[in-house]
Amino acid sequence: MKLDVVIPAAGVGKRMNAGFPKQYLKLGNQTILERTVSVFMDMKDVVDNIIIVVSRDDDRFREFGFEKNSCVKVCIGGAERINSVLNGLHCAESEYVLVHDAARPCVLPDDIRRLISAGCNDNGAILVSRVADTMKRTDENNSIISTVSREHLFHALTPQLFKRKLLIDAYENAVSSGIVLTDEASAMESAGFSPKAVIGEASNIKVTEPFDMKLAEFFLKLNNRW
Ligand code: CTP
Ligand code: MG
Repeated sequence: MKLDVVIPAAGVGKRMNAGFPKQYLKLGNQTILERTVSVFMDMKDVVDNIIIVVSRDDDRFREFGFEKNSCVKVCIGGAERINSVLNGLHCAESEYVLVHDAARPCVLPDDIRRLISAGCNDNGAILVSRVADTMKRTDENNSIISTVSREHLFHALTPQLFKRKLLIDAYENAVSSGIVLTDEASAMESAGFSPKAVIGEASNIKVTEPFDMKLAEFFLKLNNRW
């Protein structure tokens, strides 16, 4: 089985407000991007190529020498995450593709392996985590109108694993129909597939706001990756 990884890393990190893209913030001795890429570098037995999607304006990417590894390819991202992912999917060559946010450096290899075991079919699979809090739905004035059952409710994480060509078709059809998509699975769902939800560690956070740097440090230490 051929499996490439697409890592969208072309965002600006607005909510992190660091003055530069958050993927270049350091966690210990490595940047977020280096830590995320290295997880897949260490899984050569299942991963063929790693496609890193960077912004056209990115003047820092070259200093890390990712391309010295023959398995790394680089492509240019777009205005929204979906555009960056689509460019990366076109750069990939494999039958299957894992899409993983550069901003999730704490993902565990064991979870990725369980995802691959569950998702190598037309429906694909994504990592999810359980919802812990009581869930409320409000109206437009923030008045609670109902309590939503937590049963069967999950947070969608990455990686997300799909057949590359099915995902490209699903994404392109959704875009041309004007459907708003926030992850790969929603494109596949709109094309009629039912991706499998694979429960992973909740430590696989998306580093989004300054406080998340502290959380990421904690989780990396917990998993002996500091
Ligand atoms: N991403 C991308 N291309 C974009 C926007 C986002 O490749 N045009 C990537 C980010 O680099 C990140 C992942 O998609 O790895 C998830 O996006 P998010 O966490 O929202 O990152 P940013 O868009 O950089 O952050 P913000 O929304 O706060 O600006
Ligand atoms: Mg964003």
